Amino acid sequence: MWIEGKVIERIDWSKKLFSLKIKVDIGSFTAGQFIKLSQVVEDKRIGRAYSLVNPPGTDYIEVLAVAVDDGELSPNLQALATGDVIDVSTKAAGFMTLDELPKAEMKGCHLWFLATGTAVGPFISMMATDEPWENYQKVVLVYGVREAQDLAYLEQLKALESKYPTQFKLILSVTREPVTGALTCRIPDGISNGEIETLAGIKLSAEQSQVMICGNPGMITEAQLVLKNKGLAKNLRRAPGQITVEKYW
Ligand SMILES: Cc1cc2nc3c(=O)[nH]c(=O)nc-3n(C[C@H](O)[C@H](O)[C@H](O)COP(=O)(O)OP(=O)(O)OC[C@H]3O[C@@H](n4cnc5c(N)ncnc54)[C@H](O)[C@@H]3O)c2cc1C
Ligand SMILES: NC(=O)c1ccc[n+]([C@@H]2O[C@H](COP(=O)([O-])OP(=O)(O)OC[C@H]3O[C@@H](n4cnc5c(N)ncnc54)[C@H](OP(=O)(O)O)[C@@H]3O)[C@@H](O)[C@H]2O)c1
Repeated sequence: MWIEGKVIERIDWSKKLFSLKIKVDIGSFTAGQFIKLSQVVEDKRIGRAYSLVNPPGTDYIEVLAVAVDDGELSPNLQALATGDVIDVSTKAAGFMTLDELPKAEMKGCHLWFLATGTAVGPFISMMATDEPWENYQKVVLVYGVREAQDLAYLEQLKALESKYPTQFKLILSVTREPVTGALTCRIPDGISNGEIETLAGIKLSAEQSQVMICGNPGMITEAQLVLKNKGLAKNLRRAPGQITVEKYW
């Protein structure tokens, strides 16, 4: 159930936001999946899910996490330093993966990633594989955070913009302070007022879009509502649609 991993690097993006690289062998996984990290605290085992930021094929795992005020596990994870050990689940799990999207008519379709906070991680993993670039005409990442300091992996994301200048569009939304080049509205509002489609240069539609939404459950509920108003439907195995979600809490 658990194997011991060793922290090989910690990146501090801000006072509360950090990434951990952990040396551990979890076997094969699909980009978009999560593992669990766990500790025994006062005789009680606490395990929490964390999406993998690294793509399949790396000999370590990487997670992006925020230390939640009064959280049971995340502040302990933030206190880990290089060389410390942490229990990791032996297998990755989860269905927010590109192979869960409908295959038919995928070519020429647009892939939209909507993420708040730490949920940008699984999309970074997916974008480090060939799959989005080979199968979708355009890939749009809408990444929403409270403040500029909460934007992680910006260099990596800007490198993708340079690598795929016509295929990739990065749209940032920073809601609690003005940032040049970023939207100031929440993601669902940016969809309903048209700003996000204008910046992307394409429309959200049932015919041409596949949308993956991850992070804050309130954002996911509200984004689904505005997308449903545009005719998009939830993607289910028994009834393929256009919206695939993963709530973080
Ligand atoms: C499938 C899945 C994947 C996840 N992947 C990640 C990840 O990659 N990175 C990550 O930081 N968390 C992720 N989470 C959340 C994570 O599992 C924990 O819930 C989180 O670290 C808080 O744990 P805790 O024990 O410190 O807090 P708890 O004592 O369990 O408190 C939980 C509360 O913290 C808040 N919260 C939880 N997660 C977040 C978050 N990511 N951002 C902002 N507020 C949050 C919510 O208010 C929630 O009610 C994921 C959850 C799921 C279900
Ligand atoms: N104490 C600190 O200094 C500090 C700093 C950062 C994080 N934290 C911890 O981290 C947690 C928050 O993490 P976070 O900032 O990464 O995530 P978050 O609260 O989910 O915010 C990320 C983005 O999602 C937006 N959002 C929130 N609810 C929404 C909804 N219902 N619909 C649409 N958009 C929505 C936010 O907009 P809005 O800005 O409009 O809400 C913000 O742009 C807190 O629980 C706290 O424990 C603490």
